[in-house]
Amino acid sequence: MDQLSQINNGISVLEIIYVIASVLFILGLKMLSHPLTARRGNILAAFGMLFAIIATILFHTKDGKPIGNIPWILIAIAIGTVIGWVIAKKVKMTAMPQLVSFFNGMGGAAAALISMIEFPNVSPELIAEQGIANGHVLAILLGLMIGTVSWAGSMIAYGKLDGWIGDMRIKAMKYINLTILFVLIGFIVFIMTRDVQTTSELTPLIYIMFAVAVIYGVLFVMPIGGADMPVVISLLNSFTGVAAAMGGFLYNNQAMLTGGILVGSAGTILTVLMCRAMNRSLLNVIVGVFGGGGSANVTVDGSVKEISLTDAAVLLSYSKKVVIVPGYGLAVAQAQHICHELDKLLEEKGVEVKYAIHPVAGRMPGHMNVLLAEADVPYEQLIESDEINPDLPNTDVLIVIGANDVVNPAAEDDPSSPIYGMPIIKARDAKNIIVMKRGMGKGYAAIENMLFFNDKTRMLFGDAKSTLQNLVNEVKSL
Ligand code: TAP
Repeated sequence: MDQLSQINNGISVLEIIYVIASVLFILGLKMLSHPLTARRGNILAAFGMLFAIIATILFHTKDGKPIGNIPWILIAIAIGTVIGWVIAKKVKMTAMPQLVSFFNGMGGAAAALISMIEFPNVSPELIAEQGIANGHVLAILLGLMIGTVSWAGSMIAYGKLDGWIGDMRIKAMKYINLTILFVLIGFIVFIMTRDVQTTSELTPLIYIMFAVAVIYGVLFVMPIGGADMPVVISLLNSFTGVAAAMGGFLYNNQAMLTGGILVGSAGTILTVLMCRAMNRSLLNVIVGVFGGGGSANVTVDGSVKEISLTDAAVLLSYSKKVVIVPGYGLAVAQAQHICHELDKLLEEKGVEVKYAIHPVAGRMPGHMNVLLAEADVPYEQLIESDEINPDLPNTDVLIVIGANDVVNPAAEDDPSSPIYGMPIIKARDAKNIIVMKRGMGKGYAAIENMLFFNDKTRMLFGDAKSTLQNLVNEVKSL
């Protein structure tokens, strides 16, 4: 194995496999950017990770000795695989964001554990040579801080998305969080400026730092409410990536480094794009001071008006331009296939049908794209909100299917609203609006939606799947 692992001039089989794994991660990520290739991209990146794990077990050496504890490692892998497999198989599409949040938290926890295990083992020779202020110790401390915040924050996000943790808002939250953040940075500076021969005497500080990071992770996600969770989830995702990259520095492991950097940078880019899409500032996300409670007590002016299935079918069939706005309710009802059937039927009648996709419609980034791709809706039919908004005044009928916050005019009209400033799909600009939902239930931000009371709006109440099925039958019978 030794001869096999060392090819020539220090380049090992392990390093070559890490490079291959890294290339697979990069290709996988690239393919994830389009719904048509996303599935294959995911599989490709998963194979990259599999190769990296197998190669590490087979070829990794420390001080010339191969990796030990193989049976324990295999048992841990088997347990993790079974748990991950069962959870992923059982989870409903609508609970996917919670799952993503939970798995992300596990990544952060793993990075934090690595730091806690490695800190007491920093070699005294390295400290004698470079002092405690060396890159190795910095990577450990940053991995601990970022990984723990990611773990604690993701667990709170998981609880909030699952509905068993509510919002907690304190006026001074911004200052409390900023103070804790500075305390964490203070720990790093303090540890790295000690004059010590070994890290053992500083090890208790590591546990205190872990506890403070847990408090920060909890406090920074607790107040986030309303419609702002997606940004936080994406930010936590990037934290986990950065924490994993610290592990890559620590072990000089190229696959871990590339994987971590990819997750970290992709998560950061997504966070910035989402902040922009929702008109939020990144600093406010980091100190956990946006979104939340909000004015659920809007004075309702007007009444809702319903439309019959037959009238809706006639209106749609004789339109030139129809825009469908899908939202979380479409995913809950699993109505994507029947929705596509309706759009095909209308197109056969010469109606131009487009889907208006809001960046945070649903419960996870790209939720609507994935949902509609599953029903084979052509990608060209999906139009981003910025692009479709100017076209809405020329739209004969706009159908809102299970969406609420993303079409709520309060984002433009009501400065006291928690979603104020968030760009929306300007549904009220269309000539006619049909809203499909089960009742007058609120959306994720738990606020009233005046669109439903607009003179141009007609409500078609019922579960999205059965309503769409009935509508398809009506359109066919015309
Ligand atoms: P929401 O504002 O959550 O509204 C969904 C609507 O669907 C509800 O008002 C509900 O009304 C209706 N509904 C539920 N089940 C239905 C069914 N079976 N049939 C028909 N209608 C049904 O959805 P949205 O407009 O997509 O906005 C998403 C919200 O979630 C935003 O506030 C966003 O910030 C937040 N969020 C997004 C993400 C990401 S990354 N996308 C992550 C976390 C949170 P009824 O109860 O009356 O039927």
